[in-house]
Order: sequence, then C-alpha cells, then structure tokens
Amino acid sequence: MSVIENSKLAIVGAGAVGTSLAYAALIRESAREVALYDINSAKVAAEVLDLAHGTQFTGASRVTGGDDLDVVSGANVVVITAGARQHPGQSRLEMAGVNVEILRDLMPKLVERAPDAIFVLVTNPVDVLAVAAQQFSGLPPARVFGSGTVLDSSRLRWMLSERVGVAISNVHALIVGEHGDSEFPLWSQARIGPISLADWMLARGATGPAQGSGSVPFSEAEFESIADEVKNAAYKVIEGKGATNYAIGLSGARIVEAVLRDEGAILPVSSVLTDYRGVSGVALSVPSVIDASGIARVIDVPFSAKEQALFEHSAATLRASLDTLGL
Ligand code: LAC
Repeated sequence: MSVIENSKLAIVGAGAVGTSLAYAALIRESAREVALYDINSAKVAAEVLDLAHGTQFTGASRVTGGDDLDVVSGANVVVITAGARQHPGQSRLEMAGVNVEILRDLMPKLVERAPDAIFVLVTNPVDVLAVAAQQFSGLPPARVFGSGTVLDSSRLRWMLSERVGVAISNVHALIVGEHGDSEFPLWSQARIGPISLADWMLARGATGPAQGSGSVPFSEAEFESIADEVKNAAYKVIEGKGATNYAIGLSGARIVEAVLRDEGAILPVSSVLTDYRGVSGVALSVPSVIDASGIARVIDVPFSAKEQALFEHSAATLRASLDTLGL
C-alpha cells in the first residue's frame, strides 16, 4: 500500500519500543515522515542515523528527529513510548506513578506543537496513562487513546492460528479489558473464517466436558490455558530478553496506519469509556473503529454473562489504580 502524502508520524521515546515502532513504520510505509524524539540526544541522533541509512530499502519515508520536542511539530499522529519500562516480574500497574508524572509535563507541550494530532499511548500501564494523557491534554477521548489490547489480540490470534492450522488472517478473536493481568478473550465472538470457534472445534470432533445445556466443543481447560498464555506472554519475553519491542512496535504501526489512511479499521484500542456496558471513566480496550478522526466510534459487543463479569472486574482493577493516583 503506498505511503500517504504529507503524513507525519512522531514517536516520543527512542528506546526499544519507540525505535521498533519507527522501524516497523518505515518497512510498512506507515507514514511519509517518521520523527523520533528523545531526551538523550546522542541516542536519538544515532537511532535516526541508523534508521535513515536503511531508507534505500524501505518505502518513500523520511526519518528525522532529535532531542528538541519541536521535532514533533505538525505531526498527524504522535505515539508516546517514553517512560520507565517493566522489569522482570513487575506488573504494568506497578509502574504507573513515575510515568503519569512524565505525561503531566509532556502532554501540554505535545499538544502545543501538534494541535491537530491523534495521540496514541504505548507506555505502560497504558490504560492508566490513556486516562492521564486525556486529562492532561484536554482533548476528547477519541483523540487520545492507548494501544490497549491490539498486541494481546495479535498474540491470541497467533496462538489460535497455530492450534487450528488456519492462516492468522482468518482467525478473528479479541482480547478486551485491561492491557494487563485482568484482560480476557471474547471467546463468545471468536471466529475461524465464517464460523464460530466453538462450531469449528465441534466440527472437528474436539470434545470436552458437558457444560450446562450441551457439551463444550472444546475443553474449557484449553481455552483457559490459551487465555493465560496470552496474559503472561509479556512476562515470558521480558524474562528472556529484558523487554518486549517488536510485536508492540508492529501493533503501534498498525494503529498509525488506520489513522493516517482513514481506514475505519476495527482495533481493540484503550480509550476512556462512557457507559460502555455500564462502565464509565476508565480506559479499557474494546473494539473501536479507527480512522483519521481517531476513534470514530466504539462497538458495543454482546458479552456473555461471564465476559460481562470479567469486564467489570477489569474496570474495577483500573478504577482502583486511578484512585490511588488521583486520576
Ligand atoms: C507487552 C507490553 C507492550 O505486552 O505491555 O508486550
């Protein structure tokens, strides 16, 4: 797909995530210009050079950047990856305080330089920071949101694709709620091509213990283990390499493209909700239509009773964190 004319992506933070997002955006031709900002002038200068040296092999994109926040000026999309990163065994919510304060200072300065931009939070805890950024920016929730469970949903789709032997593009499944320990799969809506996951499993003879009014086509334990594998995926990667960066970089580039190409793509981003299945005032990931306006609308999905309970638990988890931070 050709790069959008005069489209500028600004990335705040030239760490592993920010540079992976920049690299992904160049290869995917997400934007005409990719601008990288970081307070560490030597680091950001080196990252810009290293990326620019490869632009012969990528699409028609320019790489710019530096340690002056003016590099984000005029951006159409600003992705925020700056902040303290998760340490092995540390939960995302435990990192909130320091990153909220970084945003308190940063958001007004970013809005001043890119007043018409869509702002995407990636820094964790992304749901808490989406609320903070929306408050500190004074912009509507549609224009300031988090990458949420776009990455988790990609993990789920990969795991299901591996299990059922179908291309990942034909596996439709979402993780919703917190981008964190209280996230959960929307099993009731999962589909393999044109049929539900449950029917797919049934048709292939997968059996499981009878549950309520009929046999579960696939063992409950198997669904639970997949859900746990998704939930714990980041911990596993962080244990091994100290951070996650490639998949979140690609997830961020995908969100950027949906905005810059005015796609109307449905992605589970994290935005401050208003009476979404009874939940308001917290940012959680639900299927949302993403276009040049940011979030054009959120999609009301019919949850099962169990999913509704999990959603409310996720909301309560985030509410408790927001309360301790005074947000
Ligand atoms: C992860 C980080 C981005 O889930 O929270 O990999």
